[in-house]
Amino acid sequence: MKSDRTNRVSIINVLLIGLLLFCLTGCSMFSSVVEEDPSAEIDSDLVVVGFSQLGSESLWRTANTASIQRALTKENGFFLVFNNARQKQENQIKAIRSFISQRVDYIVFSPVTEDGWETVLLEAKEAGIPVILADRMVNIEDESLYTTWVGTDMQEEGEKAGRWLEEYMQAHQRTDEEDVNIVVLQGTPGATSQIGRTIGFNTIADRHENWNILEQVNGDFTTAKGKEVMQLLLKKYDNIDVVVSQNDDMTFGAIEAIQEASRTVGVNGEITMISFDAAHEALEMVDQGLINVDIECNPEQGDKIAEVISKIEHGEEIEKAYVIEENVFTQKNVKEYLDTRTY
Ligand code: AHR
Repeated sequence: MKSDRTNRVSIINVLLIGLLLFCLTGCSMFSSVVEEDPSAEIDSDLVVVGFSQLGSESLWRTANTASIQRALTKENGFFLVFNNARQKQENQIKAIRSFISQRVDYIVFSPVTEDGWETVLLEAKEAGIPVILADRMVNIEDESLYTTWVGTDMQEEGEKAGRWLEEYMQAHQRTDEEDVNIVVLQGTPGATSQIGRTIGFNTIADRHENWNILEQVNGDFTTAKGKEVMQLLLKKYDNIDVVVSQNDDMTFGAIEAIQEASRTVGVNGEITMISFDAAHEALEMVDQGLINVDIECNPEQGDKIAEVISKIEHGEEIEKAYVIEENVFTQKNVKEYLDTRTY
């Protein structure tokens, strides 16, 4: 009897600890993403902006949401209606339609993938609501369906990764005869960041006959999927020299998988790690030498979006695209940025 009760108590303890851990990790993942409150009265004296964010899959995404929420505040003259689409295009389309029926002044949205936006963007245009694309792009013929885009040059990010690997191979005297075996963990298929980084990196890879891309697999921009696909790749290939991981979250998962397979990563390891985003946690791993290079994708896009809306409000001319500046981090320069990093 007593041992039954002891067992029950320990099971309850385990469940409570599990719940606590879930709240510390899972709950906090979403806590900085404030949902739209359907009962909140829109203050139409302010500039009303409907913002459809594609999800909260990564550290980058959370930072991007926070940047836009920080810029489009009441104090700055905005009323923000926020919606998190949880990675589903149909949720984004629903949110945009709801913004149209609420007659918001502007729609800002980060499209989860590039295709399939014509109809809903035409509806926004017919309703006379300017659409500002943030972060990712849409693939449409009629460019008048959106007003402007604020984001980063994803293809250039991919090229930067390739150029860094070129220099690294030269510095390590790896000759052109020696094979360099590469696997690529890609982000959400059809997303601008996946398309751009893939094209960019492959452009450089094509110049090198000895760069052997063993496989490019979908890791969905998440740590869990990154780990899962890396485990499969390690079972399939025992000759991986380089992992190109299209965001930090997948990199975290990939490093876990590699270390669990008793292999080593980074500056002094067997497998060279190339990552994208440059979130604070990843930059610490650059500093520790676990990630060789991190190509920045800058999520701080809120101020630019606020500035563009204010320009439109004042009847000023605006550009069709605004590209946010970014950096490349290695062990050589990372220390000077670690303290001031906002995400
Ligand atoms: O589109 C930007 C990408 O989306 C970031 O690299 C990634 O972390 C995010 O999920």
